[in-house]
Amino acid sequence: MTGEMEAVLVKETGAKGDWNVLEIGRIALPALRSEEVLVRVEACSVNRADLLQRRGLYPPPPGASSVLGLDFAGIVWETGTKATAWKRGDRVFGITAGGGYARYAAVHRDHLVPIPENLGFVEAAAAAEVFFTAHLNVFLEAGLKQGETLLLHGGGSGVGTAATQLASLAAARVLVTAGSRDRVQRCLDLGASFVINYKEEDFAARAMELTRGEGVDVILDWIGAPYLQKHVRILKPRGRLVLIGLMGGNTGDIHLAPLLTKRLRIIGSVLRSQSVREKAALTASFKEKVLPLLASGAVRPVLHRVYPMEAVEEAHQLMKSGAHFGKLVLSWEKPGEAQGP
Ligand SMILES: NC(=O)c1ccc[n+]([C@@H]2O[C@H](COP(=O)([O-])OP(=O)(O)OC[C@H]3O[C@@H](n4cnc5c(N)ncnc54)[C@H](OP(=O)(O)O)[C@@H]3O)[C@@H](O)[C@H]2O)c1
Repeated sequence: MTGEMEAVLVKETGAKGDWNVLEIGRIALPALRSEEVLVRVEACSVNRADLLQRRGLYPPPPGASSVLGLDFAGIVWETGTKATAWKRGDRVFGITAGGGYARYAAVHRDHLVPIPENLGFVEAAAAAEVFFTAHLNVFLEAGLKQGETLLLHGGGSGVGTAATQLASLAAARVLVTAGSRDRVQRCLDLGASFVINYKEEDFAARAMELTRGEGVDVILDWIGAPYLQKHVRILKPRGRLVLIGLMGGNTGDIHLAPLLTKRLRIIGSVLRSQSVREKAALTASFKEKVLPLLASGAVRPVLHRVYPMEAVEEAHQLMKSGAHFGKLVLSWEKPGEAQGP
């Protein structure tokens, strides 16, 4: 298929173009390689990285679409000559290094996940990036085990809501932080064992108290520099810190001795720049371990709000404000328009 499609475009990047720079325009359809599938995107989600990319701070890796969007849910529209395991009309979702905010996305055949019957496009889009991220980092990278304690910040974030559910289902103890009291009950409902309001008390001191001075086994961290020293202090011997973001800053001092004496591991992890092969292996693992949980309803995407694609700027502003709990989803569906090939 050749021609044009609608996509969200960034009119101006950089600090000046911080707000009111997104508009729907027309660009060329992605060229389809033989191992790829052209997906007609019905919904995608807003991820925090999108706020950086629109400012020119988080460019896509080489070869990826320059359009915003790290996930998608939609319908198989066309298949490459080596992607015939999929057929037109299949409902699919997944992660991508770019291009989710477009009407069509070219996705490698091994990076697609079938949408379970109990989920619509919006729910699938809400699940993709955050459940992939949680599965990869909490289990595959940090190796969280039954009975261990996980600490994560932002229990009400997209990633936090996914990681809390997966970890509590795996019979781990989950300590989460939240910046306001109204989030506490919702985090507990998702399976958190304890919620620490980091604006009212020192999360590290509280985590030590809650673990009777033993500390935690795994920390899922996207705050970075300001918490680094505390994180090293509260990790148990053989503890693992997985750093997946730098919301608080990227330059931190660290006292290295505890890394040696406690034999700690600090792991940096990014989904977006993974190779085709790495992402295929991760997708296979996701299908085996997480998809059945989504399909049975044992875990669920937490949806804060769905926006029509035209309201993408509003959705970004809400994410910037931090007032959301769970996911913000963008939908291409227009009232009265049938979904399907
Ligand atoms: N490396 C990867 O592959 C990868 C993949 C996906 C996401 N990420 C990263 O993961 C992070 C979460 O993404 P998201 O889309 O889920 O974001 P989000 O929904 O916007 O959530 C951000 C969360 O951070 C919390 N927070 C902010 N400052 C904090 C602080 N100083 N102390 C404790 N908590 C703080 C907020 O909690 P309160 O509102 O309660 O304060 C909020 O819940 C982002 O940094 C994102 O870039 C990385």
